[in-house]
Amino acid sequence: MTETIHRPGAVSSTPLVVDIPRLDTPHPYVRELPSDDGHQHIELPSGHTAICLTSHVDVKTLMLDRTASRALCNVDGGPSFMPTNWAPEVLINLDAPVHGVVREFVSHEFSARSMAGLEPTIRTLADAAFDALDTAAEPDIMTEVFRLVPAQVVCTLLGISRDHAPWMNELGRRIQLARRDEIPLIVDSWIELYGWVQHLVADDSDHDDSGLLATYKRRARQPEFAAVDDTLISGTVMGIVLGGDNNVATMLVKTLYAALAHRDLYAQVVDDPALVPDLVEEIMRLMPLGTPGSFPRELTRPLHTSAGTLPAGAIVYPHINAANRDPAVFDAPLEIRLDRPRGRHLQYGYGMHRCMGSALAQTELIAILTRVVTRYPDLALRVAPSDVEWDLGTGLRRPAALPVDLGARRIV
Ligand code: HEM
Repeated sequence: MTETIHRPGAVSSTPLVVDIPRLDTPHPYVRELPSDDGHQHIELPSGHTAICLTSHVDVKTLMLDRTASRALCNVDGGPSFMPTNWAPEVLINLDAPVHGVVREFVSHEFSARSMAGLEPTIRTLADAAFDALDTAAEPDIMTEVFRLVPAQVVCTLLGISRDHAPWMNELGRRIQLARRDEIPLIVDSWIELYGWVQHLVADDSDHDDSGLLATYKRRARQPEFAAVDDTLISGTVMGIVLGGDNNVATMLVKTLYAALAHRDLYAQVVDDPALVPDLVEEIMRLMPLGTPGSFPRELTRPLHTSAGTLPAGAIVYPHINAANRDPAVFDAPLEIRLDRPRGRHLQYGYGMHRCMGSALAQTELIAILTRVVTRYPDLALRVAPSDVEWDLGTGLRRPAALPVDLGARRIV
């Protein structure tokens, strides 16, 4: 194979997200429909009509409404971007008040403080993966590091053998890519992965006594959590398995791809690794995991938006990717800038369903990417950015592989 090392000279202009080949995300809906009521009407891939909220303020208003229902959407033939439903007991599909009980049941272990304690383990796992990458004839950092380490972290958290990591990651990938032409594959993969999760929850012999599985089983015996049975624990663990693994891999690879495709970004974080959190924040602002960045809701009471009032029964989509480019909040929103104030994007959602794993994701993204830039200051793509292959799924949209030249300097 002839290889081109893509190591252009320093480019100092502020990069635009739309200028980096394939990085930017197309709209997730089929088409916009005509409307004269001030709201944007769209057709979902499921064939339903929905209202698409695009401003930062309106997206937050919807996501703060605890009566907007996910459960009513997650039914056979319901409004969806995805070609299949997920189990009703998965956290994102629960409504109040059960959602609140389960969220309280699981959240403690996902706090920023708990996740900071996990950082040394993340670094150790990442270093082992980088050591293996160093010996690869044709290094692919996506396959050998980004799809492996977050999956190993999930196994560690759950208290199960890390040998499960590659298998778990591949099944999660098939489910989350959610290509409409692969429904039998999605269903089979779901049955296999969720069957395994249900078995782990039911049978105490397959996990250790200190991980989340053991913790949740013990906690479920407390009187205040009497409503939390094995089904709800399984749904929650499935959310951790699906979200904790491929979501992190997706943002790792998109962030590194963006930085290497516009090499000045990479040079900046090599010069000052303290900028890694800013790079992570900015690519997170601009990049949903797949084409949609969130799930539609059905209103159970009217919702007041900046354009008027939406009635109960309306299907509403909070278009996070549009909100994160709202010029009222983000100056020159398409520019990738490392000096923006942090903490305003909505890519982890907002309100009751705000991502349970955001602290885990942030800890992993910052720890692993900081290790990349300090260990491989000369890292470069081995192919032109436009030749990087992508997985173009609904739930996950990302480079399928990231062939890299590790460079002459390796600072281990
Ligand atoms: C890496 C980047 C990640 C992004 C961009 C992300 C994004 C999101 C978003 C936008 C939501 C809310 C969706 C909505 O309201 O429609 C969400 C919910 C959720 N995420 Fe994440 N996520 C990430 C990582 C993770 C990780 C590492 C976990 C592992 C625990 C996780 C587990 C969950 C769960 C369980 C929910 C449902 C929360 C609830 O309904 O209360 N996610 N995520």
